[in-house]
Amino acid sequence: MVAGNSMKSTFNAQIYNTFGIEVRAAEYVEYETVDELKSLVPDLIQKRVLHIGGGSNLLFTQDFDGVVLHSRILGVEQVDEDADSVLVRVGAGMMWDDLVAETIAHRWYGIENLSLIPGEVGASAVQNIGAYGVEAKDVIERVECVDLHTGESRTFMNAECHYGYRQSIFKQEWRGRYAVTYVLYRLSKTFHPCLDYGNIRSHLNPNSEVTAESVRDVIIKIRREKLPDPAVMGNAGSFFVNPVVSREKFEALRQEYPMMPFYDVPNGVKIPAGWLIEQSGWKGKSLGAAAVHSRQALVLVNRGGASGQDILRLSDAVCAAVCEKFGISIHPEVNVI
Ligand code: EPU
Repeated sequence: MVAGNSMKSTFNAQIYNTFGIEVRAAEYVEYETVDELKSLVPDLIQKRVLHIGGGSNLLFTQDFDGVVLHSRILGVEQVDEDADSVLVRVGAGMMWDDLVAETIAHRWYGIENLSLIPGEVGASAVQNIGAYGVEAKDVIERVECVDLHTGESRTFMNAECHYGYRQSIFKQEWRGRYAVTYVLYRLSKTFHPCLDYGNIRSHLNPNSEVTAESVRDVIIKIRREKLPDPAVMGNAGSFFVNPVVSREKFEALRQEYPMMPFYDVPNGVKIPAGWLIEQSGWKGKSLGAAAVHSRQALVLVNRGGASGQDILRLSDAVCAAVCEKFGISIHPEVNVI
């Protein structure tokens, strides 16, 4: 069935998700423009609505009895420029990594460390994606949305998005209320390499100049080594967020575990959940068809045929083991539906 230009399937639409969980929605609707999205709003008021991006941060535990929305708004447009930077307006439905490649080709810099993150541009603004010392919030200037209750447009400036580590107002106060249509990124005309996270430097060729392309290549290599390809083995990247503990709790743990990695953050100390899970003995372990990845314990994988409930059961077991050993609660980063 077709509504306007939007693509609408009404019966048992299979919902794409990188975990590879077989799940269906009552309705699945894709739209290509802001006006199309607005025309859909009156029909959404009485229904359960789930707006998805690339399906790379979702865990479905059952079929979805409502409308699944997906943006196909594309396009990269330079809308402003000054001596040092450009402002680029990007459709929410564009694949994130295609944007990274395109910005580097234009010599617009700032997101090369976010290479190969799965998902779409809209999710970069909702999820505040981050990797290797850079977060989307560092370059987002504003976010254009449509209010799914009224059909009105609204623009959120960066400060209004209340960004934090994997957090934004779109996941909190306005969860489910706004659909992101365009994201505006302020990118630099000069390349400022950000190489201090982990082992990026050691992967770069010491005899050649560091360029945005070489940083992108290194990050792609590191990610491919550690993170499973969802096309081969279902997964949603990091399944958990890294917990932040108080300084007192951290000092007490460090006495016992002097090798524990950590990062100072404004409200305490962040400890890698992958390390906690590995130390709890779960790295590479399975529970039925759900497993903790053998090269990065922060990632749970579908070994084939796992249900959402299977993954949740494993998640609960891992959380319980970490809590028992370290007295730290860890929580899923993925959106559990
Ligand atoms: N570690 C272990 N065992 C593991 C995994 C990690 O001991 O199984 C240790 C590592 O040795 C290292 C530390 O934990 O000392 C941090 O590991 P890593 O650099 O792999 O990063 P992370 O904290 O586990 C976060 C992001 C990733 C992002 C990387 C790099 C979150 C939830 N995850 O992982 O993001 O790629 O940093 O910046 O913050 C994603 O969100 O899907 C994702 C992959």
